[in-house]
Amino acid sequence: SSQYGDARGALIVLEGLDRSGKTSQSGRLVKYLDGLGYPVESWRFPDRETAVGKMISSYLTNQSQLDDHTIHLLFSANRWEKRSLMEAKLKSGTSLIVDRYSYSGVAFSSAKGLDIEWCKAPEVGLLAPDLVVYLDIPPERAAERGGYGGERYEQLEFQKNVSQYYKMLSDASWKTVDASQPMEDVEKQLKEIVLDCVVSCQKGKPVSELCI
Ligand code: TYD
Repeated sequence: SSQYGDARGALIVLEGLDRSGKTSQSGRLVKYLDGLGYPVESWRFPDRETAVGKMISSYLTNQSQLDDHTIHLLFSANRWEKRSLMEAKLKSGTSLIVDRYSYSGVAFSSAKGLDIEWCKAPEVGLLAPDLVVYLDIPPERAAERGGYGGERYEQLEFQKNVSQYYKMLSDASWKTVDASQPMEDVEKQLKEIVLDCVVSCQKGKPVSELCI
């Protein structure tokens, strides 16, 4: 057993373009792990429930305007305000399936033209995911999926740009799943990858800090 006891939770992040299927898949993963008896919660960023999250939500729905740097820092602050709870959950044995994390923060803001290194800086010191799964879908395919909801970033040209930045951020540790496959196939692949990760964290893999 490790310094965290014999069963810490896993921090699992799902990343991908808008309409790549992260939200449905994260629901299915939580059900799956829960059914196997693993404590698990579904999280998402932005967390629109906090005070910072409400400012972000108002920006995304075009009800308020903010400078690009300002909104970037708010997205980051929204992760920082959840950091201690996140750590407590993991240490107490609860795994978290997180829909978007720092990689969204850097990819979306860089795609607007902000300096990538500047974008990464406020993320340093957040918790490192044990697993990043990228739901890979061509931007055109994502756009066809029942259209976008009309939020600020839901435009094809912008999403194409975001996908380039995701590619830049990805490293060999990321698991990429072809998200243009039927949902059931994506689900099957995700379950396998995610269960592996939960099991390896239970064996005492330590919690670490993000390097991005
Ligand atoms: P999300 O709530 O996942 O969108 P939806 O549920 O409508 O698919 O995320 C909202 C948008 O915010 C999405 O376009 C990605 C963007 N975003 C950032 O720009 N920076 C961030 O740090 C995060 C977490 C998301």
